[in-house]
This record gives sequence, structure tokens and C-alpha cells, in this order.
Amino acid sequence: MNVPNHQLRCLDCSSKHPPSVTDLYCAECGGLFAVEYLEAPHGSLPRLPMADPIMANSLGEGDTPLVFLEKTCEQLGLGSLWVKLEFMAPTGSFKDRGSAVLTTMGRDLGVTEFIEDSSGNAGASLSAYAAAAGLKAHVFAPASAASGKLDQIQIFGASLHKIEGPRQAATEAAEEFVKERGLVYMSHNLSPYFSEGMKAVSYEIVEVLEDGIDHVVLPVGNGSLLIGMVKGFQELFEAGIIAKIPKFHGVQADSVRPVVAALNGEAWSHDDVLPTQASGIAVSKPPRLAEMVEAIKSTGGFGVTVSEESLIDWQTRLAASEGVFAEMTSAGAFAGLVKLVDSGVIDNDSNVCIPITGSGLKEPLKK
Ligand SMILES: Cc1ncc(COP(=O)(O)O)c(C=O)c1O
Ligand SMILES: [Zn+2]
Repeated sequence: MNVPNHQLRCLDCSSKHPPSVTDLYCAECGGLFAVEYLEAPHGSLPRLPMADPIMANSLGEGDTPLVFLEKTCEQLGLGSLWVKLEFMAPTGSFKDRGSAVLTTMGRDLGVTEFIEDSSGNAGASLSAYAAAAGLKAHVFAPASAASGKLDQIQIFGASLHKIEGPRQAATEAAEEFVKERGLVYMSHNLSPYFSEGMKAVSYEIVEVLEDGIDHVVLPVGNGSLLIGMVKGFQELFEAGIIAKIPKFHGVQADSVRPVVAALNGEAWSHDDVLPTQASGIAVSKPPRLAEMVEAIKSTGGFGVTVSEESLIDWQTRLAASEGVFAEMTSAGAFAGLVKLVDSGVIDNDSNVCIPITGSGLKEPLKK
């Protein structure tokens, strides 16, 4: 392998570590890592950790369409409302961007078999990219995950472990299996490589809209999209391509809201979890909670929670009035946008962008 262009930096004690997909925690203090590059931002393309991005394990992810939602924009009185159609990815969600980077790093660092846990979309995505790279994947997912997502995991040849109970139970079962089997835990939430793949979303937005976005509103669970997109905008800012970083607002369900609670100083714990249809963000103990809070605060953004009814209302409204069939988790971002506009956090006439993270085609309808 060439000389690596990055190292891993502990988020808690700042110690430096060599690139690795197997070491998820800092040997000094147990903290999680961020990727730290040893080269300056390039400007036109995001920095990536792979030795040779041309030889990346790719299925054609990225470069998703950016579409103007005219009717919704007018109804909410915004200056502009752009949506990034992230569900138009090889496996139907934004996760493919992260899977390309993580599986390439795994393949290049000698991994042949790995364990992963997911609410469904990341498991489906990593299963596809594992198949493409010739890696064996074991995916732990909630038994309640949408059948479309579970079918994807299986058809891509991964071993599917369906775990009863909330999302957190799948993580705990995966961790147990890792101990039993001694296999690599290539968790897309613990590894810092997955979110590196998300930086390109910001580059693609800026390529089309240049300096024209004031706010990004997005669903947040474990924060890979949030953390990656903020990093992307920071790189663009550092490279002098943009003059300001948009405000990032994180949307969670009322039922599972650790990030919004932490932002608002509200006492909320894993024991307060209630069921939600927003399965992609039903993450009660996000390991990167502090990093997510910092990412949002660094942009001057806020957190907002949304009701179960509003998820279904917005899924229907987007489909029937705009022709966009988003999964419920993704539709939640629009319910969050309405609250942010109503409370004056987002001014009328602002320019807003929402990534539509997943496809409605994977889930049974709840209406
Ligand atoms: C459709 C969808 N949107 C958003 C998210 C949240 O992404 P993250 O965990 O990176 O915050 C997920 C995660 O599973 C998802 O499936
Ligand atoms: Zn440390």
C-alpha cells in the first residue's frame, strides 16, 4: 500500500493512531476515532482515505439529482427548497456512499469477513458492497425492519441475523457475536470511514448551487450523514470554495430523541424510548452523540423532534404533490422543516436543502 494520506485521531484524548478498520476504539482511553488527513483540502473533490480512489469498490453511488420542490417551497414561503434524491443510489439509500469507502478500506486492509449491525438500509448497502468486493458479511438487524431491506440483505448473499426488540438489541447481539467468533466488527457507526463517504453530498450541492444554501435539514440517527456533510462543507470552506457553511438542523422522532435532548439540555435516556415508524433514526444510544451535537452547534443549527402522524402525512404529501416517494424516516425531515419555519429558526425566503435519504419502496405503507 502507498503511504497513507491520513491517520486516526481519538475524539476524546486526541492521540494519533494508524489507519485501521479493525481498531474501533482508542487504545489509550477507549474513545472513537475521526479521520485526520495529512494533506490540505483539494477544493474540487473531497479528501478520501483510500489509497487509490479510482480502484474503489464502487457500484456507481453518488452524483444524485438535486431537484427543486416548487409547490412545497411556495406553501412554506421559502426562498428555495432543494432536495437531494439520495434514494436514487444503487441500493436505494444514501448509505451507499459510506459503504463504498468502508468496504474499500476493509478490502485493502485485508478483511475477508465482517460483522455489521443496522436498522436495515446500511445493512442492505454494506451487503451489496461486500458482494461486489468479494467479502462475507454478517448483518444484524431488527426483526421488525422493513421486509424490503431484509430481502436486500439476503439477496446480496449476507448472513442475516434478525434480532427481536428495539434497534439497540441488534447492536448488542452483533457485539456478542463478535466476541464469540473473533471476527472483524466493521460497524459503520463506530468506524470513522463510513461518514467520509458522505462528504461528497456537500461537494455535489455546492457544485450546482455554489454559495446559495442557508440551511440543511436532515434526519439524524447515528449521525454519519450529518457528520460527513458538515465535514464536507468545512473542507470546502477551508479550500476557499465557499464563504459560509449552512446551518445544519437535525430531525428526530419524538419517541427516540437523544440528540435533540442533548442539544436542548433535556434529560432523556435510553429507558424513555417509545416505538417509532422512523426506523432509520430509532437510535437511542448513538456512540457519536457528542460529535453530532458538536457538528450541529458548530454550524449554528438546532434539533427538532416530530410526531408519528407527521411522518405519514409528509410521506403521503411528498408523494401525492411532488411525485417523490420517500421512506418515513426521510419524510420526517419535512415535518421538522415546518417546525423550524413556524418557530422562526428558518426565516421565510431562506434557501433550504433536504437530502431525501431513503426510498419509500422498501417499506410497507402505514396508511
Ligand atoms: C432512510 C434513513 N435516513 C436517515 C438515517 C440516519 O442516518 P445516520 O444514522 O447516518 O444519522 C438512516 C439510518 O439508518 C436511514 O436509513
Ligand atoms: Zn483516546
